[in-house]
Amino acid sequence: MDLLKAIIPAAGQGSRFMPYAKAIPKEMLPLLDKPAMHYVAEEALAAGVRDLLVVTGPSKGSIEDYFDQTQAWREYAQTAGKTQQFAGWLHLVENLQFSYVRQSEPLGLGHAIWSARGLIGKEYFGVMLPDDLILSKTPGLLQLLRVARQERASVIAVQEVSRDLLSNYGVIEVRKQITPNLFQVGSLVEKPDSKSAPSNLAIIGRYVLSHKIFGALDELLEQDHGSELQLTDGIASMIRQGEKLFAIKVSGMRYDLGTPLGWLKATIGMASQDPRYATQVREFLGSLDSIDSFVYNHGKVLEHYEQ
Ligand code: UTP
Repeated sequence: MDLLKAIIPAAGQGSRFMPYAKAIPKEMLPLLDKPAMHYVAEEALAAGVRDLLVVTGPSKGSIEDYFDQTQAWREYAQTAGKTQQFAGWLHLVENLQFSYVRQSEPLGLGHAIWSARGLIGKEYFGVMLPDDLILSKTPGLLQLLRVARQERASVIAVQEVSRDLLSNYGVIEVRKQITPNLFQVGSLVEKPDSKSAPSNLAIIGRYVLSHKIFGALDELLEQDHGSELQLTDGIASMIRQGEKLFAIKVSGMRYDLGTPLGWLKATIGMASQDPRYATQVREFLGSLDSIDSFVYNHGKVLEHYEQ
């Protein structure tokens, strides 16, 4: 099983990043010197993906601008002094084919994936949420793909999450534990309350899915599905129709870039491990202990600091 295509849904509203996300996609938040979209595209390429199908919407034009691969940009990137800085970008745009699908209204993750159905044939494909950053020696998506190949089935990524946070996630019910990190899934529940959650294994943003998901989403679209069509509901319905689903605890470091705090943790975590910045960032973080009062309080610089 080769996985040549992956969908990156990037048409969400980003309400947790408002008002920033009103004008600039949260998928384009910088992590050190590159936007979040760059890292997910790198992971896709390293997993063997060749076609990236990005679902975009209003105010998301900068994503296309970033991956624009005109001759002029390529030449600029290859001019003396720029090659090093642009090496990663060039590697992406020369090896990946980008297509864009419009989801004109953010009607949910399931709807975003459904919007790209015309670009997927009768094949397994990847889904990668750009606001989940997975840093791992073996690319996150490749870890799923290996299971999908072995089992000839759909695979999702999961992570153990403390009970009180489970209501923010889709959660799996384990049918069978195959290895310490691999499970066959019985069913899925979207945002369960902590008492009724069937496990503490929460779904995170990497999937390898059968094209059968589109039929399942079609059916759900015809029913009343509330204001958003959830991908979890589509996958649950696909399992009921006989598709096998496995879940793998992905190894590596995962950062949730969907909230300002998660993004901040990713930025600090990455900077403090990057040889270009590590020494100075760690020194800076250490120096914060000696600041004895808050000079910045919920969006306001305190007066004494302004003088
Ligand atoms: P999220 O639920 O994290 O993103 O979706 P969101 O809806 O943009 O953020 P909040 O909850 O309002 O703060 C995960 C990914 O799916 C995309 C988002 O762009 C994000 O990359 N998405 C979500 C879509 O493409 N379309 C949608 O309708 C919803």
